[in-house]
Amino acid sequence: MKRMLITITALAAMAFQNARADEGMWLPSLISQRISDMQEKGFRLEAEDIYSINQASLKDAVVLFGRGCTGELISPEGLLLTNHHCGYGQIQKHSSVEHDYLKDGFWAMSREEELPNKGLTVSFLERMDDVTGIILKGYETGMSEKERVELVKKNSEALISEVTASGKGLRATVEALYYGNQYFLFLYREYSDVRLVGAPPSSIGKFGGDTDNWMWPRHTGDFSMFRIYADKDNNPAPYSEDNVPYKPKKYFRISTEGVAEGDFTFIYGFPGRTQEYIHSEGVRYIEETGDPHKIRLRTLRLGIMNRYQSESQKVRIQYSSKNANVANAWKKWQGEVKGIRKMNTVARKQEFEKEFARWAAGGEFDGVVENIERIYRELEPYQFATDLYSETIRTVEIANFAMSMARLFKEDESGTTFDKTKAEELANAFYKDYHLPIDKEVFTAMMSEYEAHMPCAFKPAYHNEMMQKYGSVEAWADYLFGTSLFADEARACGLTSEDFTKVKNDPAFIYFNEFLKWYHADVQPHAARLNQELQLAYRDYMRGQMVFCRTQRIPKDFYPDANLTLRVAYGHIKGYSPADGIYYTPSSTIKGIMEKDNPEIFDYNIPQRLRDIYAEKDYGRWADSSGEVPVCFIATNHTTGGNSGSPVINAAGDLIGLNFDRVWEGTMSDIVFDPEICRNISLDIRYVLFIIDKVADADHLIEEMTLVP
Ligand code: ARG
Ligand code: ASP
Repeated sequence: MKRMLITITALAAMAFQNARADEGMWLPSLISQRISDMQEKGFRLEAEDIYSINQASLKDAVVLFGRGCTGELISPEGLLLTNHHCGYGQIQKHSSVEHDYLKDGFWAMSREEELPNKGLTVSFLERMDDVTGIILKGYETGMSEKERVELVKKNSEALISEVTASGKGLRATVEALYYGNQYFLFLYREYSDVRLVGAPPSSIGKFGGDTDNWMWPRHTGDFSMFRIYADKDNNPAPYSEDNVPYKPKKYFRISTEGVAEGDFTFIYGFPGRTQEYIHSEGVRYIEETGDPHKIRLRTLRLGIMNRYQSESQKVRIQYSSKNANVANAWKKWQGEVKGIRKMNTVARKQEFEKEFARWAAGGEFDGVVENIERIYRELEPYQFATDLYSETIRTVEIANFAMSMARLFKEDESGTTFDKTKAEELANAFYKDYHLPIDKEVFTAMMSEYEAHMPCAFKPAYHNEMMQKYGSVEAWADYLFGTSLFADEARACGLTSEDFTKVKNDPAFIYFNEFLKWYHADVQPHAARLNQELQLAYRDYMRGQMVFCRTQRIPKDFYPDANLTLRVAYGHIKGYSPADGIYYTPSSTIKGIMEKDNPEIFDYNIPQRLRDIYAEKDYGRWADSSGEVPVCFIATNHTTGGNSGSPVINAAGDLIGLNFDRVWEGTMSDIVFDPEICRNISLDIRYVLFIIDKVADADHLIEEMTLVP
């Protein structure tokens, strides 16, 4: 018995390799449980300095930027720092061939020049509370998962309307942690008047483009700046000329002291999604099927976009943001698959599951892992159909647009109405960035893929009819793009409430609608049912893993998977070895920018200004001890998508950097974290200051900040 215990422990510990290393995304309200570990590693503040509802704390200087990035306050006048790629959508929306802010950058030299945003909000977390008791009130053992979901929904809605009733701009969410073993309420205050203050040219902010994306060594100046505006009482208010800069409860001081290998680093932000506790079958699907198919489909789409974009400046601007989005996950998935394989994740998880099952036999968790495996096998065809559907049919722009326009028609007894204002808004935004030849080629490529890979049993009758009628995907494309009214901007913009029938008979609308109907009839319900079963099983498995590790004395500190709620991740600055014979040091400098500089390649063609500064070594106060300007550094913090723009804080709680990426070899950290390889990439704050000061000549912004020492 003793021997068996040892083998179990060894194997299981292997599955959770180095569980006590820098892995983990911790809840700020529970940070007192980690604070002594943080302090042992160098941190000099207290738990109350990180999160408090009684006094101003660091959390009050961090915001959820939009619905997928993080930002932080860096001045008493509402100045906000985030990544260039997080502000990219906004910068792009203000750009045209005449004012190409993407290419040339933008700097407001006065408050009046700051640009009002288009659809952007930032949210401050007011508080977070464990509300499991309230959310599960009325739950009885034996309830079905469906009943439980409904109960949770009902109780959450009641709680949310209660807590948001008093106060301007309050917004709340209830989030499940540990697969619904726990529920937390998050109360936010949301500001919508957020103006663009500055962005470097993309040859700095996106330096290295998608070639350098997810890579180390890195030299991207990935930052942009905004300012939050409030009404005269500092409360959220829609855009108005009368609004004034928001006065934060807390903002970050900026450390110009510099960083070195081994220094403590702390990231405060909104990580989006991780799946650290999933079953081997879930990983196997991602590794063998999900990721490889999605990668292939995106390779085709990117090839088409890149070709058109390289031929025209107009198209390059139009598709820059779309292209970056498609390319980003495409490249990440490739690193993820490699990392999952290298870590031997599936086999290691299987070993763990075997031990778990043996331990669980006859007890509360008997059959849990076997059940999950069965559900995954049933789910697989529906999961595949969903993945294929979303990476093919759903990527056709004209069809998405046709559906959005159709949704603006409302029918009731008195007749049909059409929201003309909204339609104009939608159409303007759509056609500004639409290039039909790209869309048509994408349609052809994606439908060929759909045709080739979607199992026949799944294909809707509509698809087969169209293939029969037109004989080929190309001919189908000619018909759809040749006759859809949405292919003609003037026609689409001239729609009135009389035109509902025309829209409903439009080939682009029919295409989207038919596949949507198919998806909602033949795929989604099965996937949803199985996913609900999976949730239920995972709730037990999650609890089971905790009990197993505790009773078997496997050292493992559990943290809830990321779900776009505020988290703390701490670690230290450290290099890594991506492959045998190579070691990467943890920081990069302006020298590396000059080594990569290449006027022939768009993404590496830096502004002449930067070349001149380099030639004259005109670095002002921003050089480090080696005499160069630092640019980026890597550290061991556990981060994911959503952490972009997160403040990187030193042991004293001051800002030393801006998180923006991870190293490619470590992108499997959303599923399995390897402390040897997983590194987050941050922009050194001194490079930000250098660019503002020397390249943008916007030192009035630096004057607002508090620099230490
Ligand atoms: N990889 C980073 C993140 O996941 C930055 C992406 C933006 N840059 C780009 N070249 N697409 O968001
Ligand atoms: N670049 C990511 C983001 O936008 C961060 C990451 O995935 O590491 O949030």
